[in-house]
Amino acid sequence: MPKKTIRDIELSNKRVLVRVDFNVPLDEKDGAMVITDATRIQETLPTLNYLIEKGAKVILCSHLGRPKGQRDPKQSLAPVAPALSALLGRPVEFSEETTGEVAKAKALALPAGGVLLLENTRFHAGEEKNDAELAKGLADLAEIFVNDAFGSAHRAHSSTAGVADHLPAVSGLLMEKELTYLHDELENPERPFVVILGGAKVNDKIEVINRLLEKADTIIIGGGMAYTFRKLVQGITIGKSLYKPEWEPIAQAALDKAKERGVKILIPVDAMISSKAKSCQESPACRRDNEVCCGWQLFAMVCDCFCKPALLKTTANNRQP
Ligand code: 3PG
Repeated sequence: MPKKTIRDIELSNKRVLVRVDFNVPLDEKDGAMVITDATRIQETLPTLNYLIEKGAKVILCSHLGRPKGQRDPKQSLAPVAPALSALLGRPVEFSEETTGEVAKAKALALPAGGVLLLENTRFHAGEEKNDAELAKGLADLAEIFVNDAFGSAHRAHSSTAGVADHLPAVSGLLMEKELTYLHDELENPERPFVVILGGAKVNDKIEVINRLLEKADTIIIGGGMAYTFRKLVQGITIGKSLYKPEWEPIAQAALDKAKERGVKILIPVDAMISSKAKSCQESPACRRDNEVCCGWQLFAMVCDCFCKPALLKTTANNRQP
């Protein structure tokens, strides 16, 4: 990869600020917020273990949710510290402040191989405006900046972009893996080149879809985005599934471009629906249905090309007739 990574720099005893994407799903249980899927935390382990092995002092920052510049206990990163600690097998200190005196004191007190997690960067209104003062506040905690937040790399925020103006900046191993994979696959794909694309927000993905429409033979659309495509193409009702009217013209333009270029776009033909977008195990009423009434939302979808029996088998015990 033609970008510098943590392998290219001296890390021993250096305070290293790592931007990770710990935007994990949380659920409230008995008054406490519980992580329901730790994949994003697990994905950072190669980078974090490498930094620890090299004797760096690791300071982690991330956003979680969209608290709009306000402190919100339900969107705190606090539950991530014990979860990460269990995965790393070492203590992870938490700072209730993202920048400032308290965070700085904790950062300076870190031993080599120590890990500190800062509170949600989006508790600061400046984060999403790429505010220079917030970026400087983050940079003041460290000597090196590592960006390992591939899932947030499309955002020019203080903790992803601004901070790199103040510190030597390199990529983490997750960022490297994703960029290398994307580069190799897109430059020289094996044919037929089939892309499975998920994610919640059509507007965020449109640039990716447009680029892939120039390379792929088939694009399979799943995840939250698929509801907009289903509504457009199949004309079905989608209840309270994730959807914004302004995503429709964006999706339509992608469909038009696909037709023009002879790229197949496959969208789900069937779905599991639920009153909550959680797993069927947690939902009292989860069933298979194509049309979604108001108050319900699509939970899992079945494409023509996917194995229907497998999906239905895993949910059959929880299904209502
Ligand atoms: C994501 O979950 O897509 C990333 O963490 C980015 O989150 P955002 O769309 O709230 O910036």
